[in-house]
Amino acid sequence: MAQDSLAIRSLDWDRDRFDIEFGLRNGTTYNSFLIRGERTALVDTSHAKFRDSWIPTLQDLVDPRQIDVLVVSHTEPDHSGLIGDLLELNPDVEIVASKVAIQFLKDLLHRPFRSRAVKSGDLLQLGVNPDSGIEHQLEFLSAPNLHWPDTIFTYDHGTGVLYTCDAFGLHFCSDEGLDSDPETIAPDFRYYYDCLMGPNARSVLQAIKRMGNLPSIEMIATGHGPLLQHHLPRWIEDYRSWSQQRSRGQSYVAICTISQYGFCDPLSRAIAHGTSKTSVQVQLIDLRATDPHELTALVGEAQAVVLPTPPAFPDGELQHNIGTMLAALHSKQLVAIYEAYGGDDEPIDTMAGQLRQLGTRPAFAPLRIREVPTESTYQRCEETGTDLGQLLMRDKTIKAVKSLDSSLDKALGRVSGGLYVVTAVQNGRSSAMVASWVAQASFQPPGITIAVARDRAIEALLQVGDHFVLNILSQENHQPLLRHFLKRFPPGADRFAGVNILSNAAPGGPVLADALAFLGCCVRQRLEGGDHWIIYAEVESGRVADQEGKTAVHHRKVGNHY
Ligand SMILES: Cc1cc2nc3c(=O)[nH]c(=O)nc-3n(C[C@H](O)[C@H](O)[C@H](O)COP(=O)(O)O)c2cc1C
Repeated sequence: MAQDSLAIRSLDWDRDRFDIEFGLRNGTTYNSFLIRGERTALVDTSHAKFRDSWIPTLQDLVDPRQIDVLVVSHTEPDHSGLIGDLLELNPDVEIVASKVAIQFLKDLLHRPFRSRAVKSGDLLQLGVNPDSGIEHQLEFLSAPNLHWPDTIFTYDHGTGVLYTCDAFGLHFCSDEGLDSDPETIAPDFRYYYDCLMGPNARSVLQAIKRMGNLPSIEMIATGHGPLLQHHLPRWIEDYRSWSQQRSRGQSYVAICTISQYGFCDPLSRAIAHGTSKTSVQVQLIDLRATDPHELTALVGEAQAVVLPTPPAFPDGELQHNIGTMLAALHSKQLVAIYEAYGGDDEPIDTMAGQLRQLGTRPAFAPLRIREVPTESTYQRCEETGTDLGQLLMRDKTIKAVKSLDSSLDKALGRVSGGLYVVTAVQNGRSSAMVASWVAQASFQPPGITIAVARDRAIEALLQVGDHFVLNILSQENHQPLLRHFLKRFPPGADRFAGVNILSNAAPGGPVLADALAFLGCCVRQRLEGGDHWIIYAEVESGRVADQEGKTAVHHRKVGNHY
């Protein structure tokens, strides 16, 4: 990868879901790195499930007792899962990490280890590699919340490689170790950003600013997927522009989490992901790792706050931070709670009562999660988050829609379309939406486009490579289907209950028995078009139920609604 530097990539071809809450289609990799100066550093380990391959690979490359330093970029188990094994092989290795990460590791490893806490600007000398003559000096950059509270980046002044672990990563498994084919990996790079980095867009911008002070970055060595080298300006600019878009305006929703407690983290991220599909900003706040002053400011200034049910018996520091957070709430805010499902959670109703007494208004009904979360739990959390974002944006959206110039509005309204129901099902998640912004877009191969609002529930199931069904409604009988699918469904509701469907008629989504025709489609590209995604899909199958039937047509008078 670079002079005196080696990547150990654990390839996870099978993993079709990552972090449980986010669908993933292309597997993933867990990358760790060896840097050899006069002394040797290892950056991160791997997921514990790769113990049998990662340890021998490491031993082939270096005698573990010769590793002087282990840099822990953050403590998430998929990168820190083999730290205990490394300590068995070399109890003298010095662990270098952020202060918070070292504290987490003490709780996690239950054994003594040598450690050094680092922060932005701190340097660590590995010395000159005797073969290459290159001096390897490591510089650390704090990158909190990307996407764990304890994250640091590591820059090697000898090679210009920046080790960022989760940031700039993507879940993409291939033998190709570099970003040689950017178009193939771009959709996964975007999806990963949206799910894991977008909810902390402000922190992303801060990290990019810090990166700007480094001499020159030749490569970004990420913890997941290919290493970024050939198109670096593009990837960094993507992160910058997406984060700037998400950081516009002042108001935001504070979504609190308690790291390493129950299912708190993935649940909070699913809610955050849902909210950030709307144009409302999100700030994820770890109640364990946030400084009390910052906590008071972040919670106090938020337009809405979402809280987990904390443990019934929190440790001292957490208890203190929960108290700080509750004291920062005020009656102008919308506040909601979700169950963390940590086993010994505070009762959710007691907490709801306390919030009522504080005079806060509910942002949504308490989210009761009494089971180990599944895809449908995460879908529910995501849709709850989106509903909250839409609620906060309601007045602005109405104003924006009304602000269209009236003759333009009437002219735009003359653009007409058919009436369709898009359906999709995937890994225990399903969804549907009425659509009229649909057009044929290619003869060969047959292709269509659909404009899908960014905050649509079904958007999550329309990623590149996903299958779905376009049900074409008939002018004779479209009304009952429209009525059904235009209902306001509660988060996570089964949208097909009571609807006649033909099972197994097409891959990707239910076929409506009362539709005039259907097309089985596969998403090939997603384009950003203003406030909608333009989904381009190839049509792989199709059938007409009534040869004489005509498609329902949708005529509008104005262009400011569907
Ligand atoms: C006639 C009509 C056509 C619509 N066409 C589209 C469309 O093409 N794209 C879209 O994103 N939403 C469209 N909508 C809006 C959604 O169908 C509907 O509001 C949505 O199912 C509710 O949002 P949710 O699924 O995210 O909860 C249309 C709505 C109507 C009434």
